[in-house]
Amino acid sequence: MKEYQAKTDCLADKTILITGAGDGIGKTLALQCAQFGATVILLGKTVKKLEAVYDQIEEIGKQQASILPLDLNGATESHYDDLADTIKREYGKLDALVHNASQLGVLGPFAQIEKSTWDDVIQTNLTAQFMLTKALIPVLSLAKHASTLFTTSSVGNQGRAYWGAYSISKFATEGMMQTLADEFENSTLRFNAINPGATRTGMRANAFPAENTALLKMPADIMPAYLYLLSDDSINVTGQRINAQ
Ligand SMILES: NC(=O)c1ccc[n+]([C@@H]2O[C@H](COP(=O)([O-])OP(=O)(O)OC[C@H]3O[C@@H](n4cnc5c(N)ncnc54)[C@H](OP(=O)(O)O)[C@@H]3O)[C@@H](O)[C@H]2O)c1
Repeated sequence: MKEYQAKTDCLADKTILITGAGDGIGKTLALQCAQFGATVILLGKTVKKLEAVYDQIEEIGKQQASILPLDLNGATESHYDDLADTIKREYGKLDALVHNASQLGVLGPFAQIEKSTWDDVIQTNLTAQFMLTKALIPVLSLAKHASTLFTTSSVGNQGRAYWGAYSISKFATEGMMQTLADEFENSTLRFNAINPGATRTGMRANAFPAENTALLKMPADIMPAYLYLLSDDSINVTGQRINAQ
C-alpha cells in the first residue's frame, strides 16, 4: 500500500470532503485528490489558507473545488445538517470523507491538563467527527462505494506519558472507526483509520520543536496509502488501522 501507484484517473467522478484542508497533510491530500480527478470540498478554519489551496487546484485545471469554512470547535449539529444538505444538493452524493483536522492541545502531565484544553481537543478531534459522520452517512450512502478515513496517530493505540487529551482522542477515533466498520459491514460504506507517522507539518513542529526536521517525511511522501484508501482499489478494506509509512 505504501508502494501504491495511483492510476491517473483513479478518483475521477468522486467528490471528496477533507477537513483541515488548508495546511499540512490535509492541504497536500487535497491537491493530490484534485490531481487524480476528484472534486474536492475543502473544509477548514482559516479561509485564507483554503483560498490558497482552491487557487492551486484551479491551476491543476481539472475539477473545480469548493470551500467550506467551519471551525470544528464551535460548530453545532445544525451546522453539520446544513452542510450535508448542501453537499447533497450540489453534488448528489459524497464518495469520501477524510477526517484530517486535529488539535494537539497542550502536551504535559495528566494532572495539569486544563479542563478547557481537554474540552477543545475532544470537541475538535472527536465530537466534531461524530457529528460530521452522523450527518453525512445518508449522503455517503448515495455513492456506489464510499470511503471514510479517520486520522489516528502512533499514540492512538498505545498511550504515552504527557500526550493526554490528544492521545485519548485518537484512541476514541479508532474506536469510532471500528464501531462504524462493524455496523456497516456488508454495505457500500467502509471506514478505516490512517496513521501518517512522523511528518513535517506545523503540528509536528509544535510537538517536537527541537528535532531535526530534515529527517522527517514530507506530506507528499505519505500520499500513496491515502490514495489507495480513497480509490476503488480498496473497496473491500474496512475496519483497518493503516500505517502510511
Ligand atoms: N504531522 C504528523 O507528524 C502527524 C503524526 C500523526 C498524526 N497526525 C495527524 O494528521 C492530521 C493532520 O495533521 P497535520 O500534521 O497536517 O496538522 P497541521 O499542519 O496542524 O494541520 C491541521 C489542519 O487542521 C485544521 N484545524 C485544526 N483545528 C481546526 C478546527 N477547530 N476547525 C477546522 N479545522 C481545524 C487546521 O486549520 P488552520 O490551519 O486553519 O488552523 C489545519 O489545516 C491530524 O489529525 C494529526 O493528528 C499528524
